Amino acid sequence: MIHDQLQRSARESLILHFSKQEVDDLLVLERGEGPYVFDTQGRRYIDALSSLFCAQLGYSYGAEMADAASGQLRTLAFNTNWGTAHPPAIELAERISALAPADDYRVFFTGGGSESVESAWKLAREHFIAIGQPERTKAIARKVAYHGVTLGALSFTGVPGYKDGFGTPPIEVSHVANTNAFRASDADPAAATRRLLTEMEAAIVAAGADEVALIIAEPVQNAGGCLTPPAGYWAGLRALADKYGALLMADEVITGFGRIGEWFAISREQVAPDLISVAKGLTSAYAPMGAVLARSRVVEPLVEGRRVYRHGITFGGHPVSAAIALKSIEIIERDRVLENVRSHEAPLRERLVRLLDLPIVGDVRGAGFFWAMELVKDEDNTRFGQAERDDLLRGFLPGRLREAGLIARCDDRGDAVLQIAPPLISDAGLLDEIVAGLEDVLRDAAKHMGVG
Ligand SMILES: Cc1ncc(COP(=O)(O)O)c(C=O)c1O
Repeated sequence: MIHDQLQRSARESLILHFSKQEVDDLLVLERGEGPYVFDTQGRRYIDALSSLFCAQLGYSYGAEMADAASGQLRTLAFNTNWGTAHPPAIELAERISALAPADDYRVFFTGGGSESVESAWKLAREHFIAIGQPERTKAIARKVAYHGVTLGALSFTGVPGYKDGFGTPPIEVSHVANTNAFRASDADPAAATRRLLTEMEAAIVAAGADEVALIIAEPVQNAGGCLTPPAGYWAGLRALADKYGALLMADEVITGFGRIGEWFAISREQVAPDLISVAKGLTSAYAPMGAVLARSRVVEPLVEGRRVYRHGITFGGHPVSAAIALKSIEIIERDRVLENVRSHEAPLRERLVRLLDLPIVGDVRGAGFFWAMELVKDEDNTRFGQAERDDLLRGFLPGRLREAGLIARCDDRGDAVLQIAPPLISDAGLLDEIVAGLEDVLRDAAKHMGVG
């Protein structure tokens, strides 16, 4: 279909996710190559967001992925993990366990991130029912964190605006402070760690220490803008979970499979959570798939008690997705993709930190290939008001970024941020080009907003 016809047809037939439905000049992407995507008018964009944190390998591995998919389609196109299994799911579970931060994880497959979060919660519940602690029905999550928006996962999500009108969440979750250091007034990271852990412990006690089943957090929180943890924070969460008999979960739907240069970002914290959720980068987005990793202590009571895990997802562990995930992991290893992220992390950080010279940039934070610039009104880092944020993040920036041929994310679920998460195969030249593009765009944004 030609461009105009696609625009018209999209308006008439497609419901967009997380979007107003009357989008003028909808960005319709039809082709990808390396780190680039192309729209229906042939314009090229650097996908500096990896298609919403998914396209770890970029877009040029289609032929290899197609071979993996085709081999599987010719052998066994589909069967489930409902009391049966197939070789690709078993092999993938073994591969993922071998990469995980401890050697006793088992893997449950899902279709995506929200399903992973909900499956992990139900596994936690089954665990506590099996060990005779059914009263553990509550969880602690963090403010502004996004853990999905299907009704169960939405309980954990700490963005009140997403919940209004959808009823009382089915899971009782308390939300505590996230690890935003820029807007906190701690003397140093150690003070931040103490403050955050004190608040976490108080939240556990307030919820009822023997009623809390789960503490859930992202190793680097996306919503709010790439919020990294202070040293000792995750070790402290592990200690609190152990002290009060709760399970600790790392939601690695974004950070898993290389985003910060590790298979699992939590490895950098030297902590092995009881549960880990993954999705997005598991297949490098060449097919949809998610998973939950659970340590043996979580699963063992179900095994010993010969209990049924009362949960299943028809397409969870689809053999074609599993074959593609195996191929993606093989390519990440073969092409030294994690090493690529690690070797470019420090220079990328240095280059981005120089954007702080622009008065509109108040903070630069992140890790690996996952970065946010917080946008501010003046040298005192005053926040933009709602009308200004609407103008900047939903008006000026999307148009200017598109003109610059850059896909990045403007977000204000927390404070106003511009985020990038380039494909993990990006080289120094491309990263430089991305930062130079951001610099131009942000300089114009400052002018537009009258900053500086
Ligand atoms: C940390 C985290 N958890 C869960 C989800 C939900 O994943 P999905 O959109 O695949 O359901 C997301 C999605 O962005 C996420 O970032």
